Amino acid sequence: MLPHYHQSIHATSRSCHNIHVGSRVKRKLPLETLYVEINDSSSGWHAIQEMVVRGAPAIAIAAALSLAVEVVNLGTKPTDMHGALQYIHQRLDYLVSSRPTAVNLSDAALKLKERANNAALTASGADDIYTAYVDAAEAMLASDVMSNKAIGDFGASLILSHCKRKENVRILTHCNTGSLATAAYGTALGVIRSLNFQGKLETVYCTETRPFNQGSRLTAYELVYEKIPTVLIADSAAAALQNAGKVDAVVVGADRIASNGDTANKIGTYNLALAALHHGIPFYVAAPLTSIDSTLSSGDSIIIEERSAKELTHSHGGQGLQVAASGVHVWNPAFDVTPAKLITAIITDKGIIAKKEDPAAFDIPAFLKDH
Ligand code: MRU
Repeated sequence: MLPHYHQSIHATSRSCHNIHVGSRVKRKLPLETLYVEINDSSSGWHAIQEMVVRGAPAIAIAAALSLAVEVVNLGTKPTDMHGALQYIHQRLDYLVSSRPTAVNLSDAALKLKERANNAALTASGADDIYTAYVDAAEAMLASDVMSNKAIGDFGASLILSHCKRKENVRILTHCNTGSLATAAYGTALGVIRSLNFQGKLETVYCTETRPFNQGSRLTAYELVYEKIPTVLIADSAAAALQNAGKVDAVVVGADRIASNGDTANKIGTYNLALAALHHGIPFYVAAPLTSIDSTLSSGDSIIIEERSAKELTHSHGGQGLQVAASGVHVWNPAFDVTPAKLITAIITDKGIIAKKEDPAAFDIPAFLKDH
């Protein structure tokens, strides 16, 4: 995780399934790289909500670690066991309120609470609970790196076995799913890294990913840095690119996957999946098991974050020049839900989830859901 994607947003209003957030953004990458210090859960919350750190796994880890730093440094924290547990639970609930769509954050908070509760059963004092919390948060960081490498290797093998081409594979990806969205390596970008490492990759096509441009700012930045052959395209060029026969597989990340495989990911993912189906190109979702929300039977109830109109009406994520007519109405969802029927397979850190009988849905095995 490289926490130097500096920008900020503010909450404005809420509706049933959409959370609206406004934007007062100053972007730094790709022209300037800076590291932002996060010393407590409050600065962690702001870094997540303001997208200083973003990407589903990265926000979960940033939240967990921000509270770990607070726990280590805070002089006035509760000294009794009940108080310590209450404090950890409350701060985690607060952190979860920062962004709604990615499930990794709430999943991490749940697991950290469980870990603290379990520690309390044998603890001889509050300090044992705090130590257990910090250990668990640090373990999450290490585990995400391992999980991304596993996703990368499973995905590379799958693509090489599915694709007609066994060499010089061309991948289309969306948004940013790399080191800037995870602890390191990445999910969809991890698959691309593994293909490249094996010498099987010809080109990655990365979309700009309007309106926030995570593709052109972040994915292109990571790929160029690693000298992985990359071509940037406008989002609207993706169908034409597929029609031109330049794509062997589409690989994207996920913010939340329902039990049937419906997948919430960065806005525009659905368009890519529709175009892939039309052109007979496999469409893969690459994500850790922690992205599967087994409480949801379908993607219909996934909460979609809705963002500021200014991100569309002004350049530079809302901070630059006005580029739209004054007074125009705007709809700016940050994510969309791709129906499972458009997804060829889900690449996880524990293996590939494929469809069995029903081509419209995945039958995600229970042992995977109970990760
Ligand atoms: O709004 P963002 O930038 O946090 O959205 C990120 C994405 O949609 C990613 O593609 C997704 O989180 C997968 S991250 C490995």
